[in-house]
Amino acid sequence: MSCADAPPAVTHTLPDAGPDPYDASPYVPQRGGLPAHRRAAAVCRGCPLFEHATQTVFGKGDPSARIVVVGEQPGDQEDRQGEPFVGPAGRLLRKALREAGIDVDAAYLTNVVKHFKFSQEGPGKRRIHKAPSLREMSACRPWLIAELNLVRPDVVVALGATAGKALVGGSFRVTRDRGALIPMADEDGGRHVVATIHPSAVLRANDREAAYAGLLADLKVAAKALE
Ligand code: URA
Ligand code: SF4
Repeated sequence: MSCADAPPAVTHTLPDAGPDPYDASPYVPQRGGLPAHRRAAAVCRGCPLFEHATQTVFGKGDPSARIVVVGEQPGDQEDRQGEPFVGPAGRLLRKALREAGIDVDAAYLTNVVKHFKFSQEGPGKRRIHKAPSLREMSACRPWLIAELNLVRPDVVVALGATAGKALVGGSFRVTRDRGALIPMADEDGGRHVVATIHPSAVLRANDREAAYAGLLADLKVAAKALE
C-alpha cells in the first residue's frame, strides 16, 4: 500500500475531562469588597482541604494597604483562631516587619491556600503541617488574585517557595530570586513582588540568626520600594 492510500491516522482523543474540579473560582463573588469575599470564602468547597480544617483563614489587614504579605497556608494556631500569622511563625514575621520599618497595621496579610492542611499522627494526635499540593495551590489561587485586585498594593512580599510560585510562576526559586523587585502581571493585582524565605524556615534553621538576618534584609528591599 502506497502512502497515498494509507488510511487516515487514527487520532486518539481523550474524552473531555472538563474543568478541573479543584477550583475556587465558582465561589469567588463577581462583585463586592473584601468583606463579601471573606464571607464567600468561608463556605468555599473548591478543593478537599475544607473537610478537615476548622475554618477558612482569609486575609486580614488594611483594605487599601500598599504592601501585601503572602504566606503558604494557615498553621495550627491560624486554623483555630481564623486569622493569618497569629502563631509562632507569625510572631517572628511581625517582629521582622517592624524591624524592617514596615507598619504591620498598614499591611494586608494573607496566604496562597486558605485552609490548614495537616496530618494527625502519634498518641498525642498533634496536627503536623503538610505542604499543599500544586493542585490545591492552583485551586485556591483565585482568592489570592481577588484579594490583590481589591487591595492593589505596590509591593507584594512572597514568603517562601509556595508563595513565590503562586505569584511569579513555576520557575520561581527562593534562593535565586529572593531580595529583588520582580515585576508582576497587571491582572494579578500587584506591581512588584519581593520574595524571601518563610518565617517557619527561620525557626527551623540551624543558624537562626543568619536566616533571620536574611529575612530582614529582603524585607528591607520591600520597605525601600514603598518609599
Ligand atoms: N505560615 C503561613 O504561611 N501562614 C500563616 O498564616 C501562618 C504560618
Ligand atoms: Fe477553597 Fe482554598 Fe479552602 Fe480549597 S483551600 S476549600 S480552594 S478556600
